[in-house]
Amino acid sequence: MTVPDAPSPAPVLVTLQLNGEPVSVAVPPHWTLLELLRYRLGLTGTKQGCDKGDCGTCTVRIDGEPQLACLTLAVEVRDRHVETVEGLGVGGEPHPLQEAFARVGAAQCGFCTPGMLMSASAYLDKLTLEDEPVVRREDIAQALAGNLCRCTGYTKILQAVEEVAQVVLDRQRELAESTTEEP
Ligand code: FES
Ligand code: FES
Repeated sequence: MTVPDAPSPAPVLVTLQLNGEPVSVAVPPHWTLLELLRYRLGLTGTKQGCDKGDCGTCTVRIDGEPQLACLTLAVEVRDRHVETVEGLGVGGEPHPLQEAFARVGAAQCGFCTPGMLMSASAYLDKLTLEDEPVVRREDIAQALAGNLCRCTGYTKILQAVEEVAQVVLDRQRELAESTTEEP
């Protein structure tokens, strides 16, 4: 008996904001966001590791929150804001986190790095002087807990994020002081 192939499901249109730009793309309805990014849009900065939610290397930001692209269906990001590592720097310049990773040697093979950067950038964006007047390494470790690295032992990664977080808080402190000094 010959069993006919199941018919392929019709593609669905997904419209989203990707790294600040509007994108409309048709994808099979079962595709994940990771497949959309890598295999339809050619954004291979987001890595495909375990493909089942364990390693964190596929981390992107959806509406600002770090999320696993391998566990997110492409249709779930309709009308939402997705940021990938390709959109992290501004105007062709690397993000301070990328500079810090390079400076302290926080990337070895680099496979985990894009996911680490996206989780770390979400942590930094929420950092406020009121909530965290001193950078706490345990908070950084918590923010990166879903991102696995099999090369570095994590110390350099934590150091890189800590250095940037310190700069963020120092700037906030200077701003707060200059505001209170105004007549
Ligand atoms: S590839 Fe998504 S968690 Fe590993
Ligand atoms: S630098 Fe190789 S897995 Fe993290």
